[in-house]
Amino acid sequence: MTTFLKKKRKRSLNSSESFSDIDTANLPYHVAIIMDGNGRWAKKRILNRIEGHKKGVEVVRLIVRTCREIGISILTLYAFSTENWQRPKTEVAALMSLLKNFLESEQKDMLDNNIRLNAIGQIERLPEDVQQALHKTMSLTKKNGGLMLNLALSYGGRDEIVRMVQEIAARTKEGKIDPDLITPELVSDFLYTKGMPDPDLLIRTSGEMRISNFLLWQIAYTEIFVTETLWPDFGRQEFLQILKHYQHRERRFGKV
Ligand code: FPP
Repeated sequence: MTTFLKKKRKRSLNSSESFSDIDTANLPYHVAIIMDGNGRWAKKRILNRIEGHKKGVEVVRLIVRTCREIGISILTLYAFSTENWQRPKTEVAALMSLLKNFLESEQKDMLDNNIRLNAIGQIERLPEDVQQALHKTMSLTKKNGGLMLNLALSYGGRDEIVRMVQEIAARTKEGKIDPDLITPELVSDFLYTKGMPDPDLLIRTSGEMRISNFLLWQIAYTEIFVTETLWPDFGRQEFLQILKHYQHRERRFGKV
């Protein structure tokens, strides 16, 4: 009985009606999101900032589900930046605890729905228990071939570039890389996102017109959408609306 109900719900959510005016054959392969505005959402309600992050996690679940249902291949979420370590200790601890809870609570959903978890950033800087939860979920889901949920954690674009330069320089010094043969493709292979196509679409919530050190190399030709909506107020309908707008953009990649 349970299985039947589950199946039925899934089918109805996947029906063409749900995504009626979206061309599912022309979806962005890789969507990246700067989830901003949790603090402001909480402040407007005279709540602690952490309440904003908690609501933000619910929206993460919703957008992951929507991406999986519509058929997005990679969803990269900017969950914690290298700069975020400078926030008050209590806020950092709350974000780490939310992350750990999310990993534990979503494990079954990821396994049931063919989602593969990946992480980019300075994973070794995360608290030990978060690293363990992360590695466990990544290992359990590594063979899944549906949506890849790519969490940017202690991630910074400049840090990623410095790390890439250091690694290429070290190999060049050892004679393993010929400096004349360093190409954009080789550079990409030394980034955290090795093997992933660059994002087609970058969404930033809460209206700020900046990149905030996110995927600096990878977004060279990415289509950018900024919405005024604060992340905790963001939802499925607005996400689908943005996908629709994306489908009307002409991507020229610098050509005519
Ligand atoms: C920006 O809002 C958001 C963050 C720094 C963290 C994003 C984290 C979550 C959505 C929850 C945890 C994520 C996962 C994947 C479990 P802000 O605090 O900078 O908001 P403000 O600019 O309004 O102050």
